[in-house]
Amino acid sequence: MILITGGAGFIGSNLVRYLLSAVAGPVLNLDKLTYAGNLQNLAAVWSDQRHVFVRGDIADADLIARLLAQYRPRAVLNLAAESHVDRSIHDPDSFMRTNVVGTFRLLEAACAYWAALPADQQARFRFLQVSTDEVYGSLDGAAPPAAEDAPYAPNSPYAASKAAADHLVRSFHRTYGLPVLTTNCSNNYGPHQFPEKLIPLAIHHALEDKPIPVYGDGGNIRDWLHVEDHCAAIARVLADGRPGESYNIGATNELPNIALVKLICATLDEERPRRDGASYLRQIAFVADRPGHDRRYAIDAGKIRRELGWAPSQSFEAGLRQTIRWYLNNQDWVSNVTTGAYRDWIARQYGASADRPQGDHPGGRIGNAALSAHPGGVEAAAAGL
Ligand code: NAD
Ligand code: DAU
Repeated sequence: MILITGGAGFIGSNLVRYLLSAVAGPVLNLDKLTYAGNLQNLAAVWSDQRHVFVRGDIADADLIARLLAQYRPRAVLNLAAESHVDRSIHDPDSFMRTNVVGTFRLLEAACAYWAALPADQQARFRFLQVSTDEVYGSLDGAAPPAAEDAPYAPNSPYAASKAAADHLVRSFHRTYGLPVLTTNCSNNYGPHQFPEKLIPLAIHHALEDKPIPVYGDGGNIRDWLHVEDHCAAIARVLADGRPGESYNIGATNELPNIALVKLICATLDEERPRRDGASYLRQIAFVADRPGHDRRYAIDAGKIRRELGWAPSQSFEAGLRQTIRWYLNNQDWVSNVTTGAYRDWIARQYGASADRPQGDHPGGRIGNAALSAHPGGVEAAAAGL
C-alpha cells in the first residue's frame, strides 16, 4: 500500500492512475477535495479494488495516525497542497495551513508510524515530498539551470510555503532519521489540470471567445514537463532514490509565456478553427503583471538522469497537442469545474473585462484585479460526503 495525499488533484490523479497501471500494489488516496480536487479526475480508477479514497485533511493528525495504523503503507507520497501562485497572493493563509502545518502534521504522524515498524519494514519505508522548482526563485536570463544545491530563494507565498515544507522534511531526516525523498519539479502540463493555470486557462478562454490573459510583457520563462513524465520520475525516485536526497525533475524545455500562448493558439487553429476563420491569436491580451512575478525558472535534471536513469519521454509539441485534444474532448469536465466559485475567482483575478467577448482588444491590455473506506471507492467513515 502506498499513501498518496492530494490524489484527486491534477498531478495526484495522474499519479494514482500511473501507479495503478505501472507499479503493482494498492493506493490509499487521501484528499480534502478543495476547489482543486475533483473525484471526476479519478473516474478511470474508481472501481479498481486497489484504489481506496478517503476524504480528509493532511493536517488532521488523528485521521492520519488512524489511516497509517489501519493500512500500514510502505510509503507516503505528499502531493496535497494549495498550488496556485496567484491565489497565494490573495489568500496566503490557506497555503500556510496546508503546505506548512499540514506537511508538518503528516511528517509527525509518519515518523511515529515509521519508528514503530519492524526493522525490515522500517528500512524500506519512504516519505516522498513532491516539491517545486519555485523554491529556487527567479533565475537571470544567462544563469545556468538550478541544480539541487542551488540556494532556496522563494518569492511568492506559495513558493515560501513549499520551501518551508521542504525544510521540515529535511529536518525530520537529519533529526529523527525518517527516510525522506524530495522532488523539485518544473511546470507540469497535461490532462485534468485546473483551468486557473496558464495552459488550460488559455485553452478555455480561447474556446469561450474570451481574452487570453498574458501577464506583463509575456517574456517570463517556464520549463514545461508533461505530467506523465513527472509521475514516472516520482516512481523512479520512490524506487531507487537515496534517503535524504533531493531530485530535480524537468525536461529542459524553457519557453517564454507569449511563445507558449501563441503555440496554443496555432494548435487550436488547426484542431478547432474559430467559426469566423480568424486566428485565436487575436484573443491574446496583455494584462498587468503578477506581483513578484519570477522571471525565469529552469531546472537542471542531470542528477535524476545520471543516478536513476529517468528521462522525459514526451516531446513538448506532441504533449501539448495531446493535452489540447484532451480539453477539446472533455468539455464536460471543464464545465463541471468552472462553477460559480471558479467564475468568482476569474472575476477577482482578471476583472470583469475578462468575461467580455473578444474582438476589440487583440494584443491589447485588459484589467487585472490582482493589482488593483471501501476499496474501489470512498471510505465511508472518513469520507464525510
Ligand atoms: P492541485 O491544486 O491540482 O491539487 C492539489 C490537491 O491537494 C487537490 O486535490 C486538493 O483537494 C488537495 N488538497 C489541498 N489541501 C489539502 C489538505 N489540507 N489535505 C488533503 N488534500 C488537500 O495541485 P497539483 O498541480 O496537482 O500539484 C500537486 C503537488 O505538486 C503540489 O504539492 C504542488 O506544489 C506540486 N507541484 C506542482 C507543479 C505543477 O506544475 N502543477 C509542479 C511542481 C510541483
Ligand atoms: O514551476 C512549478 C510551478 O508551476 C508549481 O509549483 C505550481 O504549483 C504551478 O502552479 C506552476 O506555477 P506557475 O505560476 O509557473 O504556473 P501558472 O500556470 O500559474 O503560470 C505560468 C506562467 O504564466 C507564469 O509566468 C504566470 C503566467 N500567467 C499565468 C496565468 C494564470 C499568465 O501570463 N497569465 C495567466 O492568466
